[in-house]
Amino acid sequence: MQQFISPATSISGEIALPGDKSISHRYALIASIAEGVTRIRNYSTGADCRSTLGCLRALGIEVAGDGTELTIEGRGLAGLRATAADLDAGNSGSTIRMLSGILAAQPFRSRLFGDESLSRRPMGRVMDPLAKMGAHITAREGKFPPLEIDGAPLHPIEYRLPVPSAQVKTCVLFAGLFADGVTAVEEPVRSRDHSEIALREFGAELRVERGRIELTGRPRLEGRELTVPSDLSSAAFFIVAALLIPGSELTIRGVGLNPTRSALLDLLVGMGANLRIPQLESRNGELVGDIVVRHSALKGGTVEGALTAALIDEIPVLAVLGAATEEGLTVKDAAELRIKETDRIRTVVDNLRRMGVEAEELPDGLVVPGRQRFRAAEFDSHGDHRIAMAFAVAALAGDGRSVIHGAEAASVSFPEFWDTLASVAR
Ligand code: S3P
Repeated sequence: MQQFISPATSISGEIALPGDKSISHRYALIASIAEGVTRIRNYSTGADCRSTLGCLRALGIEVAGDGTELTIEGRGLAGLRATAADLDAGNSGSTIRMLSGILAAQPFRSRLFGDESLSRRPMGRVMDPLAKMGAHITAREGKFPPLEIDGAPLHPIEYRLPVPSAQVKTCVLFAGLFADGVTAVEEPVRSRDHSEIALREFGAELRVERGRIELTGRPRLEGRELTVPSDLSSAAFFIVAALLIPGSELTIRGVGLNPTRSALLDLLVGMGANLRIPQLESRNGELVGDIVVRHSALKGGTVEGALTAALIDEIPVLAVLGAATEEGLTVKDAAELRIKETDRIRTVVDNLRRMGVEAEELPDGLVVPGRQRFRAAEFDSHGDHRIAMAFAVAALAGDGRSVIHGAEAASVSFPEFWDTLASVAR
């Protein structure tokens, strides 16, 4: 599918966005192994979160409702059923990595696969800790999907994450739910903590202290009523669009503002963004608030170290914004970007250059000089949702009509993206 994007004179109005992708996956997965019914409101409409529901249904879990309001009949820690069918994780790294932690402990064999992009993403990072816990997993070439998981009784481990990854942390914690005793995960760089918060909400016992999480196995998890906040990573495209286009003023309602996710906002404010959060509230342990953003001239700067890990999903759209800042943007320590849905260092730099924007690829990052203009261009999402949306934002600042091929990729996290964009771009 192609999308044509014309330059905008402002990004204005009020929007609400689909539920957070990370939180939606976690609520559905934990609900399936909890006792009793969980009701989830504002579940993500993205294809990735549908993949998680598809896998759970195949494993014998009843999920009612196809839209954003779901009811999941939890069957307890021992309630999943063996399936003859292979489990399809689609494009979703979160589904395959987090579900592996649960499947590793089941008394049956399962096979998980995904689309072409997912089939190239590394799974060794979850296979290693799960093997240490007693699981038997094989993969194509030892590290790529499909994964064949021969469930086994698991024992607790102490695990220090070699890569900053919330998916890996979650996988180990989910496996730890099935092990007798205390599973400990240490993270040298803090990653999003939605799993810790959600597990507590469902009744698990967790201790978190200075980068170390201890989970007591075999808890009694109980079904809950939960509401998913709007996805800050989806909001990021609209925040950047409003900052970029003169005359913009945009309000985004009910956004998840968990401090392990909101580094982008601090960075933007530090660069001079006019961004307000009139009030914050806590919902199911997650911070939620409205964001009001106005067009602002920004300084630019450098993103590196722990900050890079904290806003890894927002880097494509941040790179676009970098070109319009005073001093430009440098991103370092971002080698992980090369193994996302696409090699995002390459796809970002390639698309920026198509717009006549100077950008340089580093082995683990990129450099985008500031004070540049965007030329209208024709570009490709390469099947990556965040690339499709980041360059839609860039195209709003173009000097004519741009074309995005493979625009349907946005549906992976945000199927309503194009309509929502049309509703605020003037
Ligand atoms: C996610 C963690 C991050 C992120 C992904 C979602 C999660 O991946 O990029 O979009 O929900 O835990 P990594 O765990 O690979 O860093």
